[in-house]
Amino acid sequence: MSIGLLCIATAAPAQDAGYGANGYKLCASCHGFSGEGNELVNAPAIAGLEAWYVERQLRNFRDGIRGHADDDQPGRTMAQMSRGLASDRAIADLVAYIETLPDTKPARTLDGDSVRGRTAYAACVACHGADAKGNAALNAPGLLGLDDWYQVRQLKKFHDGTRGAMAADTYGQQMAPMARTLADEQAMTDVVAYIQTLDD
Ligand code: HEC
Ligand code: HEC
Repeated sequence: MSIGLLCIATAAPAQDAGYGANGYKLCASCHGFSGEGNELVNAPAIAGLEAWYVERQLRNFRDGIRGHADDDQPGRTMAQMSRGLASDRAIADLVAYIETLPDTKPARTLDGDSVRGRTAYAACVACHGADAKGNAALNAPGLLGLDDWYQVRQLKKFHDGTRGAMAADTYGQQMAPMARTLADEQAMTDVVAYIQTLDD
């Protein structure tokens, strides 16, 4: 396995976590040196996210697919940060570095009803899995290790068409109608409370 990976690494223009570490210094000012996130600046934990998901989001921010709605201030902040990532190589290096950061378990900041949330989560299982660990084949990321406040905010954005509405946003468009199965912010907080119980 590791020999195979080494071969690929030498043959292809390899991702370089070393270059990524350097590029990550800018990211650390908001997301923290360990990728643990910082709610004060609306920056979520990113340690432990799947490499393919991080790569897709960085491209989406950079290419105007995510974080461009007028009322999406946190998204616009991140989109601005992604503009320095001119090459796909720069993105690949960063992703390689972020993969080396240890998983985080963000503190709970909300107080949802996980029993009610469990019922609502039935609509999520098909893509994110009963264990919320995600499903790469369906392009659905894992949800464990995400901040509760961040998840609720994303659900609102998908619900209201701030994220996942653009034609070019293939995967966001798959998620947006699912967020509409959640009637209001309380229902979103409840489902996130249930997801957190899966991380115990
Ligand atoms: C000025 C603060 C700031 C800096 C610097 C910054 N970010 Fe962000 N980042 C944010 C905010 C705010 C969000 C949340 C956007 C939202 O709510 O949609 C975010 C979101 C993200 C996401 C999406 C997470 C998810 O679960 O979908 C990734 C990945 C990310 N940032 C990576 C990076 C990387 C890599 C860098 C360095 C190149 C970086 N960020 C620099 C503020 C920042
Ligand atoms: C049809 C498949 C599908 C279903 C069902 C689904 N999702 Fe998703 N979800 C996705 C995909 C695909 C993405 C990635 C979107 C992107 O790349 O921007 C996503 C993204 C998300 C995100 C954003 C993660 C991040 O780091 O920003 C959250 C939160 C989320 N889903 C929660 C839920 C919840 C809660 C439910 C149930 C109410 C649900 N999803 C149902 C496919 C699905």
